[in-house]
Amino acid sequence: MKLCMIGTGYVGLVSGVCFSDLGNDVICVDRDKRKVEDLKNGIIPIYEPGLDELVLKNYNNKRLKFSTDLKDSVSRSDIIFICVGTPTKKNGDGADLSQIFNVAKEIRSSISKFKIIITKSTVPVTTGDEIEKIISQKISKKLFSVISNPEFLREGEAIRDFTYPDRVVIGTMDKKSNKILKNLYSPLISKGAKYVNTSRRAAELIKYASNAFLATKITFINELANLCEKIDVNIEDISIGMGLDKRIGGRFLRAGPAYGGSCFPKDTKAIAATADKYHTNLSVIKSVIKSNENRSLLLLKRVEDILKNKIKNKKICFLGVTFKANTDDMRDSSSLLMIPSLIKKGAKINYFDPTGEKNNFKKLKNVKYSENINSAIKESDLIIIHTEWNDFKSINFKNKVQNKKFIIFDMRNIYSSKKMKKLKIKYFGVGC
Ligand SMILES: NC(=O)c1ccc[n+]([C@@H]2O[C@H](COP(=O)([O-])OP(=O)(O)OC[C@H]3O[C@@H](n4cnc5c(N)ncnc54)[C@H](O)[C@@H]3O)[C@@H](O)[C@H]2O)c1
Repeated sequence: MKLCMIGTGYVGLVSGVCFSDLGNDVICVDRDKRKVEDLKNGIIPIYEPGLDELVLKNYNNKRLKFSTDLKDSVSRSDIIFICVGTPTKKNGDGADLSQIFNVAKEIRSSISKFKIIITKSTVPVTTGDEIEKIISQKISKKLFSVISNPEFLREGEAIRDFTYPDRVVIGTMDKKSNKILKNLYSPLISKGAKYVNTSRRAAELIKYASNAFLATKITFINELANLCEKIDVNIEDISIGMGLDKRIGGRFLRAGPAYGGSCFPKDTKAIAATADKYHTNLSVIKSVIKSNENRSLLLLKRVEDILKNKIKNKKICFLGVTFKANTDDMRDSSSLLMIPSLIKKGAKINYFDPTGEKNNFKKLKNVKYSENINSAIKESDLIIIHTEWNDFKSINFKNKVQNKKFIIFDMRNIYSSKKMKKLKIKYFGVGC
C-alpha cells in the first residue's frame, strides 16, 4: 500500500519505517527541512534502539522516502497518517490542535481520488469530526474517510511496541476503509495483536483513557512510596506483592520521580480539559495531575533533607536526565525542574546522559556535562540516579568517587540498600 506519514517525529518516523519494513511504500513528510535532509543522509534525529538499521535498510530498498513536499506526497498516497504534535496549549488548558488543523487544511487541495486520512496523533474526542468538517469544505465526502488510529508505542521500546502491539484500535464506521486497514495491519494481527474496530470518538478516547490510567498507576505507587518512607517499609516489596495479582499487574507500578515525557503530562491535562468542556469532573485524573506536579518538589525536599539543608557549593551529579531510559526525549522530564532549582540553592551540577549533552542546560551557570560516568561522579558529594539506564546498574562507586563521604540518592531503586549498607555507602532510595 502507498502510505504517507505527516510529521516525522517519534511516532511518524517509527511507524513509517515499520510500515515500510512490512512491505509498504512509505513517504515520511516533515516541514523541518533539516530533519528531512539528515534522514536522507542516514542521520537519525532521535535516539531509539534499532531505528538506524531499519531506516537504512528500507531507505536503501527504496520502500521508504523522506520529503518536505506535503502536497505531492499526499497526492501519491492512498492512506495518510497525521502524526504531528498535539502539545498542551500555552495557557495549560487542553491540547493545542493547531498543527492537526493546519495539516487538514494543507492536504485537502491534494485529494482528487479516494484517500483514507488517519489521526495517529493523540487527539481529543471529536477532533476527527473537526478534521472531516475542514476537508469537506473543499472536497466531496465521497473522496475521503477520516479515521482514528491512536498509537500506543513507548519511546525506547518503540519498534517492538509497533511490531508486536497488544491491540490495534481503528475508529471508523466506514466498512470499506476498515477492511483496507485490517489488511494493512494483518501482519501484526497474525502475530497476536487484537484488532479493535470501534467508533471514531471511542478510539480517540481509548488513547487518553489508557494514558491517564497508566499515569494514575505511577502516581498511586509514588504516593505509597511517601508513606513507606515514614514506616520503614520498602516500596519494592509492595510493588512485587501487588503486581503479582493479575488484576493489577506489575508494570507501571515502580516508584520513582514524577512521570514525564511527551505523553502522560499533556494527555492527562487534555482529558481533564475535555471532561470540563462536557461538564464532567474527572476528579481522579485531576488529583493525579496535582500529585505528579508536586512529586518533583517532594523529591527536591528529600535532597535537602539528605544534605541536611546544606546545598550551597555541594557537588551534585545527575546520572541520566531524560524522563526515562532508552530515549533522548527531555520533554517534561523532572530533571528540568530539579536541576535549575538546585542551582538556585547554590549547588554545582555535573551530569551524564547516555544520549549526550542537552540544550536545556547549556545556558545554565554551574551545570556541566561530563562525557562519561566516571568523570561525572568523580568529585561528587551527592550522586542522584535519575534515569534507569542499564549503564548505571553496576557502577563501582567506591573505586570511582574521590570524596569518600559521598552519598547516593537512587530515584529508581536500581541498587539494593542492604548491599550498599554492607559496602558502607550512604544510600537513599525512593520509598525505603
Ligand atoms: N512520542 C511518543 O512516544 C508518542 C506515543 C504515542 C502517541 N504519541 C502522539 O503522537 C503525536 C506525535 O508525537 P511525537 O512525539 O512523534 O511528536 P514530535 O514532536 O516528535 O514530531 C512531530 C513532527 O511533526 C512535524 N510537523 C508539524 N507540523 C507539520 C506539518 N504541517 N507538516 C509536516 N510536518 C509537520 C514536526 O516538525 C515534528 O517533526 C502526538 O500527538 C503524541 O501525543 C506520541
